[in-house]
Amino acid sequence: MRFLLVTAAPLLALWAWRSKYTIYNNILIKPDLPDAYYHQGNASTQCSPLKLDPEFTYCEDLSPWDLYTSDAEDKSISERRVLISCDAGRKEWNTVMGPLKNPNPRGSLWSYSPVSGKTTRLVLQDFPEDHTFHPLGLEACPSYAGNSSYLYVVNHAKEKTVIEQFLISPSFAVAKHIRTLSHPLFISPNAIALTGPNSFYVTNDHVFTRRLPYYIGSVLPIVETVFGLPLSFTAHVTLDANEAESDNPILEHTIVAPFVAFSNGISISPSGLEVAIASTSIAQVHFYSRNITSNALTYTSSVHLPFSADNVNYDENGNLVVSGHPHFPTLIKLAANKTDVAPSWVISISPLEGETKPEPEYDLKATLSASAMVPPPARHTLETLFQSNGSKFSTGCTGLNDPISGNLYVSGLYAEEGVIVCHP
Ligand SMILES: *[C@@H]1O[C@H](CO)[C@@H](O)[C@H](O)[C@H]1NC(C)=O
Ligand SMILES: *[C@@H]1O[C@H](CO)[C@@H](O)[C@H](O)[C@H]1NC(C)=O
Ligand SMILES: *[C@@H]1O[C@H](CO)[C@@H](O)[C@H](O)[C@H]1NC(C)=O
Ligand SMILES: *[C@@H]1O[C@H](CO)[C@@H](O)[C@H](O)[C@H]1NC(C)=O
Ligand SMILES: *[C@@H]1O[C@H](CO)[C@@H](O)[C@H](O)[C@H]1NC(C)=O
Repeated sequence: MRFLLVTAAPLLALWAWRSKYTIYNNILIKPDLPDAYYHQGNASTQCSPLKLDPEFTYCEDLSPWDLYTSDAEDKSISERRVLISCDAGRKEWNTVMGPLKNPNPRGSLWSYSPVSGKTTRLVLQDFPEDHTFHPLGLEACPSYAGNSSYLYVVNHAKEKTVIEQFLISPSFAVAKHIRTLSHPLFISPNAIALTGPNSFYVTNDHVFTRRLPYYIGSVLPIVETVFGLPLSFTAHVTLDANEAESDNPILEHTIVAPFVAFSNGISISPSGLEVAIASTSIAQVHFYSRNITSNALTYTSSVHLPFSADNVNYDENGNLVVSGHPHFPTLIKLAANKTDVAPSWVISISPLEGETKPEPEYDLKATLSASAMVPPPARHTLETLFQSNGSKFSTGCTGLNDPISGNLYVSGLYAEEGVIVCHP
């Protein structure tokens, strides 16, 4: 007992110190968020749901899909669509938060065009009939001159989490299945960032998952989350470009960012030189510099957020849009179907120019300012783009800022309306 106390006390102290903002901001108190705030106007008139279909609900990831007029050299984009992963059955199958009751009803993929204003369901083609489908993180290669391009989707399937490779075409509402990617170190894939048509980074959110047998699966993942244990990792994966190679398609799997607590969203900056990874359980985003040739990552800095950071997306101006969960206990209650809504908060992180010093008070326009909750980052500044106590929009887990259309998209893990779109 004495030994236990002697070992446990410093560890608990370390935990309390390292997680102090998270414990206070996102567990002990419920932040006093407004019904809705949108940084470019009035959320009640300028943000509207995309919902159109009963299956278009509980959406996790949003990813831009750029359609280039000709090729990569000619930079002109004819349209930026948004690809969306949803899972109407999430309350019966969620391998991150539970429960694991019924894996059979399939989730869905959608494509939104801001030009036509239409959201289209992508029909899965050639998808193995007996294969379950629970999409989470997704990302597609750009399409050039109307050609098809690859789409990669994390699939929390019944037996284990895999990554599905599809081919999508700007002209058809179809996702043609190419192959299923599986690896012993795909322990708990969550989000994907592509480094080429046949290579990507993938985060693994936990090393102890709910899939573990008996009570282990209901205890260890929670210990890993609550104590912010730095066990999870990001890997870089290179595939055999030959689509027909479906038995052994993974040529290389390299761990590039180990020892991160609950690695979640990942995104590569427009220059390709920086990578951001969300660390959910300690409410931070970690930045890494990236070697473009080897895809190796070197840690550079971290930024505290006033919420448990979920997914991240750079926009083309180099701002990182982070969405997350301001009150974790409410989210857990919602995953267990014991409440209806949980709050949302979307923040943009921008690098400070040159020698600019951070302001001690910042984000002052927002109804509830991030400045009131976390210290200013050393080399960045934060600005709230959207926030809601759950009334206007619940469980925002991904924010996507599109300077082309001016739209801010937010998807909600357990939002009935799936996605909300705000426009100035
Ligand atoms: C959100 O805030 C509004 C107005 O302040 C309030 O009426 C509503 O009950 C709140 N909703 C939740 C879910 O807290
Ligand atoms: C936003 O618009 C609604 C509906 O038109 C209006 O009732 C409300 O007062 C507006 N809020 C602000 C802050 O202007
Ligand atoms: C489009 O696909 C065709 C047929 O595979 C190929 O020849 C062409 O180079 C592609 N165009 C671009 C811009 O990638
Ligand atoms: C969630 O709770 C509602 C009632 O509050 C019930 O109708 C619904 O079936 C429940 N869903 C699941 C997946 O248990
Ligand atoms: C990037 O990786 C390549 C290949 O491993 C290596 O030769 C090069 O020195 C690295 N560049 C930097 C800046 O570390």
